[in-house]
Amino acid sequence: MKRLIGKTALVTGGAQGIGFEGAKLFAAEGARVVIADINAERGKAASSEIGAEFVRCDVSNAADVEAAVKAAGTVDVLYNNAGIFWVGHDGRITDVSEADWDRVIAVNLKSVYLFSKFAILAMMASGRGGSIINTGSSAAQIGIPDCDAYTATKGAIVQLTKSLAVEYGRYGIRTNCISPAAIMTPMMRQSNPENSTFDEERFLKLRTPLRRYGTPEEIAKVALFLASDESSYLNGATIVADGGITVNGDLSKIDTDA
Ligand SMILES: NC(=O)c1ccc[n+]([C@@H]2O[C@H](COP(=O)([O-])OP(=O)(O)OC[C@H]3O[C@@H](n4cnc5c(N)ncnc54)[C@H](O)[C@@H]3O)[C@@H](O)[C@H]2O)c1
Repeated sequence: MKRLIGKTALVTGGAQGIGFEGAKLFAAEGARVVIADINAERGKAASSEIGAEFVRCDVSNAADVEAAVKAAGTVDVLYNNAGIFWVGHDGRITDVSEADWDRVIAVNLKSVYLFSKFAILAMMASGRGGSIINTGSSAAQIGIPDCDAYTATKGAIVQLTKSLAVEYGRYGIRTNCISPAAIMTPMMRQSNPENSTFDEERFLKLRTPLRRYGTPEEIAKVALFLASDESSYLNGATIVADGGITVNGDLSKIDTDA
């Protein structure tokens, strides 16, 4: 079944990871896909692999974002996926420099303001409504140490999802959010398995009820649901897609060898 025929989907940060798999599935479901990413080399290669269009864009830059939305023309689906988890820069609030704090806020949160603003204007002008998919994190659901700027952006995104849902629902524009965790992507590899202080065995046994990482394909299926008319009465929702990580109290009480 082709669920996105006749629709244009704009995917930020679609050059790799979760965004790439989302863009790929949207294209397979019949959408015209436009990838907006700061990495031109990877973005062009990713786009040609799945038959998408590419626009180089720093999501924190207003002129870039306006140009990207203009290049897309009609926007039926906006997938606000781009983000950074800035290992070595972000951290505990007493350690983060003002410049690094500002950069994380700009890339992760200002980007959602900018893209949503220009895309909503385009959606309202088209009269076709639309679906906006934001990206939260387990950091928006629970307190995770040592990434305070990231946490602040993700919590804000979950809340902004709700106000956009309330404000623009009457135009047929639905805004929802996906909060993933432990999805195996370049970002995840850098922040966890490639980090020398990370204890993978402990993480999978004690933090992760499904005892495995998630895949970007698993998040892409949630994004497709939100992009398509199958989720036509979802507005303001956050779908937590984390294998149960954020509802886990204490896995040490469970037989970890079973
Ligand atoms: N992987 C996970 O487990 C996980 C967990 C929670 C939330 N998330 C969120 O999911 C989203 C995607 O994560 P991922 O794991 O695929 O990350 P990733 O680092 O693998 O990919 C991110 C993409 O965003 C692009 N990007 C970064 N800064 C940009 C900028 N300024 N302008 C334009 N593009 C930019 C990168 O070039 C890259 O293509 C992010 O918002 C992330 O915070 C991921």
